[in-house]
Amino acid sequence: MLRPLLYLSALGLLAGAAPVSFTGPTEVNISSCPITYYGQTYDRVYVNFTSDKTVICFTGFYNPGSGGDCVLINTPAMTSGEFEIFDRWDALEADVHKKVPAIKTTMKCYMDSYVQGNGNSNVVNDNTVFRSNNNTLSLLNMLNSLLSALWFQHLFFVVQDLQAQVNGATVGTLAVNSTNSNVFLDASGCRQSGVLYGYNQSMSHPETCTSVVCGQTAVLQTSTCGPLERCLGNNICGFDSVCTVTGPAVIDFHGQVNSVEDRCAYSLVSLTNLTVLATFRERRRKDVSFVDSVTLRLDGSDFRLEQGGRVLLNGSVLTLNSSAQLVHGVELSKDQTGVTAKVSLSDVTTSVFFDGSTAQIHVEGPAAPPLQGLCRNSSSSLSGLRLSDYSSTSCETQYNDTADSSINCTMATERCELLKGAPFSACNDDVDPEPYITACTDTLCTYPAVDGLNCQFLEAYARACSLYSNASLEGWRSKASCSPEAFCQDRTCIDHEFCGDKTVGGTGCLCRALFASKYRGTDSLGDPTVCRENSASLTLVGCLLEEKDVDYSVLHLNDQNCRGQVDQLTHMVTFSFNSSNCGTVVTANNSQVTYKNTIRADNSSSDIITRQDQFYIDFSCVQTQPDIKFVSFRIKDSSVVQHLVSGPWNYTLTMKSYTDPGLTQAVDSNTEVMLNQKIWVELETNGLDGDVVAVVTDSCWATDQPSSNGSPRYDLIIGGCANAADRTVQVERNGAGTSNHFSFNMFQFSESSTDIYLHCKLQLCVRKNSCTPTCGARRRRSSRSTSEAEAFISMGWTG
Ligand SMILES: *[C@@H]1O[C@H](CO)[C@@H](O)[C@H](O)[C@H]1NC(C)=O
Ligand SMILES: *[C@@H]1O[C@H](CO)[C@@H](O)[C@H](O)[C@H]1NC(C)=O
Ligand SMILES: *[C@@H]1O[C@H](CO)[C@@H](O)[C@H](O)[C@H]1NC(C)=O
Ligand SMILES: *[C@@H]1O[C@H](CO)[C@@H](O)[C@H](O)[C@H]1NC(C)=O
Ligand SMILES: *[C@@H]1O[C@H](CO)[C@@H](O)[C@H](O)[C@H]1NC(C)=O
Ligand SMILES: *[C@@H]1O[C@H](CO)[C@@H](O)[C@H](O)[C@H]1NC(C)=O
Ligand SMILES: *[C@@H]1O[C@H](CO)[C@@H](O)[C@H](O)[C@H]1NC(C)=O
Ligand SMILES: *[C@@H]1O[C@H](CO)[C@@H](O)[C@H](O)[C@H]1NC(C)=O
Ligand SMILES: *[C@@H]1O[C@H](CO)[C@@H](O)[C@H](O)[C@H]1NC(C)=O
Ligand SMILES: *[C@@H]1O[C@H](CO)[C@@H](O)[C@H](O)[C@H]1NC(C)=O
Ligand SMILES: *[C@@H]1O[C@H](CO)[C@@H](O)[C@H](O)[C@H]1NC(C)=O
Ligand SMILES: *[C@@H]1O[C@H](CO)[C@@H](O)[C@H](O)[C@H]1NC(C)=O
Repeated sequence: MLRPLLYLSALGLLAGAAPVSFTGPTEVNISSCPITYYGQTYDRVYVNFTSDKTVICFTGFYNPGSGGDCVLINTPAMTSGEFEIFDRWDALEADVHKKVPAIKTTMKCYMDSYVQGNGNSNVVNDNTVFRSNNNTLSLLNMLNSLLSALWFQHLFFVVQDLQAQVNGATVGTLAVNSTNSNVFLDASGCRQSGVLYGYNQSMSHPETCTSVVCGQTAVLQTSTCGPLERCLGNNICGFDSVCTVTGPAVIDFHGQVNSVEDRCAYSLVSLTNLTVLATFRERRRKDVSFVDSVTLRLDGSDFRLEQGGRVLLNGSVLTLNSSAQLVHGVELSKDQTGVTAKVSLSDVTTSVFFDGSTAQIHVEGPAAPPLQGLCRNSSSSLSGLRLSDYSSTSCETQYNDTADSSINCTMATERCELLKGAPFSACNDDVDPEPYITACTDTLCTYPAVDGLNCQFLEAYARACSLYSNASLEGWRSKASCSPEAFCQDRTCIDHEFCGDKTVGGTGCLCRALFASKYRGTDSLGDPTVCRENSASLTLVGCLLEEKDVDYSVLHLNDQNCRGQVDQLTHMVTFSFNSSNCGTVVTANNSQVTYKNTIRADNSSSDIITRQDQFYIDFSCVQTQPDIKFVSFRIKDSSVVQHLVSGPWNYTLTMKSYTDPGLTQAVDSNTEVMLNQKIWVELETNGLDGDVVAVVTDSCWATDQPSSNGSPRYDLIIGGCANAADRTVQVERNGAGTSNHFSFNMFQFSESSTDIYLHCKLQLCVRKNSCTPTCGARRRRSSRSTSEAEAFISMGWTG
């Protein structure tokens, strides 16, 4: 066997590749120089002779009629041949570049083979034609190109006519004649799903907006609608994308995920005339925020979608049902899964779905509309998209919270990765599950899997699949134990609350972490007792009671009829009592009066079991009584008024004298008072709670000078009782209320001026005890223990 001379000089055997000789059907390993034949790469060839051809196949031995990728070379009656693989060769490369200008790449290696029959020796006519000499054919370099797959894209360089077949069909032929030898057949191309594309060949599918072209480097390029687009037919792509906001995570139109860590409002999608914004709020943890409501702002009107399926237009609740209704340009509907609001502006349709924990914003239009917001790019700078008129002040403040030791991140991750398993996997090609898995694990590794969170991310993925995939996810809910109904549907909580799972089962309005922190810090259920002069109140926080599963309506004070009042706006439950109602226990101790009551749960003896924890809150108010007060006054004044403030007590004490028993003719500076004329003196208070205290006139006496302890001194009342030595003194009312009066006949100090100063000492007495001094024949002194606070007042007459 002879080699053609043409390239012989430069042949360099590829390291490790020994020549393979063959005389019949032979399989040759060409993995050291694999061939790409019309877009398919092969690392072995199957060679065989038929009566009139040498057949080199890549898909198995040649079997006419059964397809296969083969090269059929017209070489009758061959009997033996040889394969060899060589390193790249400049001369050959240059020759190919010259003859096949489309080929620009460089050569890596090539395979050479030749065959011969049983006849005479080869005639090698220098470097052009390899001629047959009767039965002997020299098939030279035929596979140079097959061979140099990595290099020049499957060219054939042959000395005989040949046919190239793909799947049994002829896709290329090469005719060789004496003046046109050493030629190449370009066998480059691409294949997709069994379809062959020749080099530079393209195919278009207008109905799917797909076009395929076998490009410059024989690589199939498929172009179709962009990642945010959808085929509208006729090769026209339209914008169609969904953005999912679930928990703290925002999965934008491009599938990038990011999370919001503060409690502000952000623009999700902002189009001309329409803004969709989300408000984030904390729930159980201070350091994790959830999308709490979604607002569509259209022409200045706010459509706010809230947890529980509530929708408010400019703050007023709308009643919705499953049949869509058009309200001021927004099509609204509500079903068990959540609320949908749809707006069409120009050609762009924006559909917002919200189920209380996940918002999905689906935007469709003929071309990519000019969009702004987190849905366009969830990595955008938050400060630029924050909407201050929807955010509370200091919403940016971030808080730390103690890690939840009950969270098992491994388990959470397993849960989230259900999205990669059946039945979700059927949709994985259409909707990338990764961002959903990231959002899910990030959340469930820091936040307890309650309040429907275990299903929330699966639900969000399934909903995105329903938009972009024909795959059926049927049965995922039963497989993952998820309810088809939106969590907390139709439950309305107020601003400082969110709807969540109660520890004892069921859902309720629980306190948001920041609101609750001031109570949790002190382990209390409400605000401190508010004590007023004669009343007290205690306010319990509705959502803290709810957490403990305490129904406020079973709570009462000592008196079962005294129940808490709920403020519907704040969900605060207030229990109030005063000194004389609701079974208040009033006790006095030295200068202090204590009012005490207890909040407790109904003690319904008919129930043989109780599901309520013992509930018992004592609360009391301690009030300090006033110190002794003293005031002097001038005779010219018709009365003296003293303003007394001490502790919670704030009252006035008035001392007045009258000339009639009905206390109507007040003595003033013009009144002539005769000696031995009967005078009534009234000690009246204003501002004391007569139900709690009584005023007791302890003592009254007269002096001839302003000083109360001056001398001489004349006693009118001693120890609450009239001075027995003066028969004219009559204590007419004492200790029975908040004012007292007594009378005496006017007198004058014998050896001094006509001035008379009257001084009285008063005491406040807790009415729980008897406050009326016991006077009588035996002149028992009244019990001092009942008198608590003392006041002192003086009055004078100048003759
Ligand atoms: C083909 O040859 C390569 C080395 O050139 C070798 O690694 C490989 O195992 C061979 N393949 C077969 C099926 O023999
Ligand atoms: C090789 O070709 C001959 C002649 O066509 C045929 O009879 C034989 O079956 C082929 N061998 C294989 C392995 O295909
Ligand atoms: C080649 O074969 C032909 C007939 O097929 C014959 O006439 C010719 O002489 C042969 N040539 C040689 C060199 O043997
Ligand atoms: C040889 O082949 C080339 C190209 O196929 C053709 O143009 C030419 O006419 C052929 N020459 C003869 C002599 O057949
Ligand atoms: C590929 O096709 C395009 C148009 O379909 C043509 O302009 C270009 O010249 C072709 N390239 C080659 C190398 O044939
Ligand atoms: C909502 O309020 C805005 C501003 O106060 C007002 O412009 C708009 O007309 C209101 N929308 C409806 C439907 O009442
Ligand atoms: C839904 O509400 C609309 C308007 O309130 C009412 O006309 C319609 O009958 C309701 N449909 C159903 C199914 O309740
Ligand atoms: C936006 O609103 C203005 C005024 O109502 C209207 O003229 C304009 O066409 C609207 N633009 C779009 C895109 O709807
Ligand atoms: C999103 O914004 C970030 C930060 O501004 C930027 O690095 C990134 O390239 C943007 N992504 C897209 C898809 O625009
Ligand atoms: C939260 O804790 C981290 C690490 O313990 C600390 O670096 C950070 O400053 C804290 N942030 C706040 C707001 O307290
Ligand atoms: C977390 O869950 C995994 C998988 O369910 C379990 O193997 C592992 O023991 C759990 N770890 C803890 C600390 O409970
Ligand atoms: C006492 O009451 C008067 C009038 O009601 C008020 O002006 C004054 O501020 C009160 N004093 C105290 C200490 O509450």
